Amino acid sequence: MGNRALIVHPSPTAVAEIRDVLSHHVACDSAHTEADALRRLSDTEYQVVVVDRKPPIDAFRIVAQTVAAQPDAFIVVMTPDANEGRELDTSMSGKVFRFLAGPEQRWQLTGIVAEGLRLQKLERDQKELIKKLGLEYGKLQKREKLLDVVVKERTRELQIAYESLKSSSRQALLGLAEAIEAKDPYTKGHCGRTAVYAMALGKEARLSETDLEVLEFGAFLHDIGKIGIKDAVLLKPGALDDDEWKHMKIHPVVGFQIADQLDMLKPMIPCIRSHHERWDGTGYPDKIKGEDIPLLARIVCLADAYDAMATDRPYKRAIPMDECKKILTRQAGPQFDPSLVDLFISRGIMESFG
Ligand SMILES: [Fe+2]
Repeated sequence: MGNRALIVHPSPTAVAEIRDVLSHHVACDSAHTEADALRRLSDTEYQVVVVDRKPPIDAFRIVAQTVAAQPDAFIVVMTPDANEGRELDTSMSGKVFRFLAGPEQRWQLTGIVAEGLRLQKLERDQKELIKKLGLEYGKLQKREKLLDVVVKERTRELQIAYESLKSSSRQALLGLAEAIEAKDPYTKGHCGRTAVYAMALGKEARLSETDLEVLEFGAFLHDIGKIGIKDAVLLKPGALDDDEWKHMKIHPVVGFQIADQLDMLKPMIPCIRSHHERWDGTGYPDKIKGEDIPLLARIVCLADAYDAMATDRPYKRAIPMDECKKILTRQAGPQFDPSLVDLFISRGIMESFG
């Protein structure tokens, strides 16, 4: 779009002179009367309005009409003398781009119009940019909302898939625990009770949700290696001799070998392999000591030992709770992690399960 100026002046000669000055910047229209000027302002779009204050032209009305009909146009007012220009400056403040005093300043018009047009273009570009940014921002917001919905939907699907996988893994693991107990009926219910005590202790020890999940199954399956123990040893009602003990003591390593081949069981390896280690380092199979023994294994060790004490077995009666506490306290340090024994007793875990 080319730029267009309206020159308002009662004298055709003056209009011709002004047109000469401006014509290489803008296309020019002219109005010699106020009525003509007002009509053109409402008909045609102008970027520049040059108005002379020479009577009978009322420059105020022309300025007011320009502001109303052509808010983006810039106005240059020419006054007969400089003093009048200063008065006008106050009364038209903010609406007139420049005042020029008398014909002698007309030569400045070229520079003023060029500057005005440059500013106008900058303003237009700025508005365009703001509009564009607004559109892009709107699009971005829509895209973000869409993405949010998709992410939520995918998360929900994954959650469902994970829950179903977890539930089938749980079934498979519980099946394994049953298989261990079927092999050793004397310890019926032992795996489940060990898991219950271990979980109670794990919660008191403020384990994370993930660790608690591993601990639950680790406690359930800690004796999985007993699948590899001969029946004659596993089911022997009386005390084991040295060779039999030696054979019995391989069950953590047998369990480890089984778990090491199944991804599902790998997280439980510490519980399976190390639940017979002792705090003082005299346990088996690796003779590790103190905090070198994985925490989950230390918890299972305590829960396992307590259940063995507190339940009837074919070859022994259950030990009363007070006596169990004494044994656990005595073994805190040699066999068990002392801080875990402290938690187990002080938080009333034994009492809460009767
Ligand atoms: Fe064991």
